[in-house]
Amino acid sequence: MRKKIVAGNWKMNMDLAEGLKFAGSIDKYFKEKPSGKALVILCTPFIHLAGASEILKHGKVALGAQNCASEASGAYTGEVSAWMVKSTGAEYVLIGHSERRTFYHEDDKLLNKKTLLAINSGLKVIFCCGEVLNEREAGKHFLIVRRQLEEGLFSLSEEQMDMIVIAYEPVWAIGTGLTATPDQAQEMHKYIRDLVKEKYGNDCAKKLPILYGGSCKPSNATEIFSKPDVDGGLIGGAALKKEDFAAIVEAI
Ligand code: 13P
Repeated sequence: MRKKIVAGNWKMNMDLAEGLKFAGSIDKYFKEKPSGKALVILCTPFIHLAGASEILKHGKVALGAQNCASEASGAYTGEVSAWMVKSTGAEYVLIGHSERRTFYHEDDKLLNKKTLLAINSGLKVIFCCGEVLNEREAGKHFLIVRRQLEEGLFSLSEEQMDMIVIAYEPVWAIGTGLTATPDQAQEMHKYIRDLVKEKYGNDCAKKLPILYGGSCKPSNATEIFSKPDVDGGLIGGAALKKEDFAAIVEAI
């Protein structure tokens, strides 16, 4: 059985006090109402990591960062390394989110470097991929996702792939209210799993969790999660409201 995962990506929201209070309420919620088969992860801004780690450490909810540096250490003003993230108690890091690719010009080569640094620091990586609208309209979405995975991820060994979760996030569905249909999500998730199978073999492909992200909410989560190759979700806006986030976790 593959791991089912619902990860909340807080993006650049909440100050320190607000974020820790919210992490506390999520922790409490899932202590009282266990999430069953689903692993719940909160991907917070860097400033929340150390405090959230203390809050979550005896509970059921895991912690992740949203980014890490592309260098291990040294004179890189303003950056936070994978090892620093790991030292807070976080276990996961998002790499390759479309907002990093678009606004900070992170390319496949750089993302590959970050992924390897993260894994070598002992972090599990939620590696994000997905096409923009005009790529889908031009029928290039499979090609784009294939390139992102081949160049960002496929230099890893089979053993290192155990540290990977893939998140398919069609960029046109992020924060727009537009969602991929469950069939569109399933089609891409199956394509991704087949690529992994081709490269790493069936065992690796079968155990790889592939999450869907992009305007996932309580009203559409059940249907999207019912697809055989969709192993959970990476949630943006709806992860900022406890009731919505909990309802999405329950949809698993
Ligand atoms: P929304 O759920 O707000 O569309 O964001 C998805 C996302 O980018 C998660 O990483």
